[in-house]
Order: sequence, then structure tokens, then C-alpha cells
Amino acid sequence: MRRFSFFNSKLCLLVPSLFLVIAFQGRAQDQEASKPAQNEGPRYTEKVPSRGGQGKVYLGREIAKVMGHQGLSWLERPEREEEEATNDVVENMGLEADDVVADIGAGSGYFTFRIAPRVPEGKVLAVDIQPEMLDYLNDKKKRMGVSNVETLLGDVDDTRLPENTVDAVLLVDAYHEFSHPWEMMRSIYKGLKPGGRVILLEYRAEDPAVQIKPLHKMTEQQAILEMKAAGLKHVETREFLPIQHFMVFTKPE
Ligand SMILES: C[S@@+](CC[C@H](N)C(=O)[O-])C[C@H]1O[C@@H](n2cnc3c(N)ncnc32)[C@H](O)[C@@H]1O
Repeated sequence: MRRFSFFNSKLCLLVPSLFLVIAFQGRAQDQEASKPAQNEGPRYTEKVPSRGGQGKVYLGREIAKVMGHQGLSWLERPEREEEEATNDVVENMGLEADDVVADIGAGSGYFTFRIAPRVPEGKVLAVDIQPEMLDYLNDKKKRMGVSNVETLLGDVDDTRLPENTVDAVLLVDAYHEFSHPWEMMRSIYKGLKPGGRVILLEYRAEDPAVQIKPLHKMTEQQAILEMKAAGLKHVETREFLPIQHFMVFTKPE
């Protein structure tokens, strides 16, 4: 009868292999643990609030106070088209007929109702945190008989967009007043389809001739920094508008 020998048996190969597998798994777990948690963005800090500011600072920028619904008529002012070339904004969004577009911080729906006819087989999701804005928007929707606009009451840190459903997000004159910019952009990121776009319009802070309160303006550099922090990729910045940057970002495929 042959005597059992560990060194001649298959165990001789199996045991070291097992050790290697266990050691590799341990290392992978250590690496996973050292990654920042998914819900951990750059820190917010506080300062004495500036005029019109929230006193909350994100990546070196003080967040502006939210414009109340009392400002509705300013958003709807007739001279806005000439001042901000709003038709050119919609024209340059690169929309397809079946696109799902989210207008975040939609306010009165100034852009929502200009986008809706461009996506007849798709729809526009108008998101805001002020119910008064959405009431106005819903009344207008009824009056105009528009069927492809839906309103969503968001939270300060959550758009409530369904995941992976949106082709394009429009943010006009809204992002700089989000009290939780990182959480909002992560929520937008989740709502976008892979390859989906964020079109961000902010008044140009680099240009002293733009007569807008300082906290309601942003530099291109700052906007790129903040969008990148949320995982979005900068595609291009186009300067065809009179007083705003037209910046395009994408959720990587
Ligand atoms: C200055 S208005 C711009 C409205 C619209 N985009 C336009 O250009 O006509 C900014 C809007 O953003 C909304 N807003 C602020 N924080 C928000 C948030 N976290 N989520 C959604 N909307 C928000 C405000 O309630 C307000 O209606």
C-alpha cells in the first residue's frame, strides 16, 4: 500500500493557491475600504453670509440665496428673449423629437414650454422645490393644452428624477443657488442615461460688464470644477449668448 505524502499529492498545489486567493481578496477589500463612500462629496464650510448669500461655501464659492416665487414676473419678462437670447438657447440644445429633457430649477417654466414643442415624442420634466412655481407651471400647462410636460416637486438635495431615463438636463440660472450642489448633481447624474448631457447656463463672472449680482454669476473654471466633482465630463463651453456661458457636460458612457 502506498503511503500518503503531502508533497506528492495534489494538495501540495491546492493549499498555496488557496492562500494566494485569500490574500488577494483581503487586499481588494482593503482597497475598496480606502475609496470614499458613494455619498461623500467635497465638504461644505460656513462663513458670515455675504449680501444675497447663504453663508455656505462649496469648493471656494459662496452659494447664493434662492430666488423666491415672488420673482416669477422677472423670469417671464418680455425683454428676456432679447437680453438673454433665450430662443438661441433652445435652438442650440441639440434636441431630438423623442428626447426626455429635465428642466431643473424650472421656476415659471420659461424654458420648459419652449422645449416641449421640440420634443413632441418625448417630454419635459420640470423640477423645482417651490410648490408655488409648480402651481404656476401646471396652470400654464392646462391653459396652453400641453401634454408632454410633467412637474416634479424636488427636495433641496434630490431631483426625484427616475434613474437612467433622461437624455438632457437644462440648468438655467439655478445651479448657483442650490443649497446642496453636490447632492443635486449626483441626483442629476443618476437620472441621466449614460452619455446624457447637462447644459449649464450661468451668468459670466469673468465679465465685469455683466450687470448681475456677484453670487449669481459663475466663472467657467468654477463650473467645470464643480461638475467634475460630481462625476460629469466637460464637453464644451460655447460663448454665443450675450451674458451667459453655455456649458455642456456629459455622464460618461
Ligand atoms: C432664478 S430661478 C430660474 C428659473 C428658470 N430656470 C429660468 O431660467 O427661468 C431658480 C429656480 O431654482 C429653484 N431651485 C433652487 N434650488 C433648487 C433645488 N435644489 N432643486 C430644484 N430647484 C431649485 C428655485 O426655486 C427657482 O425657481
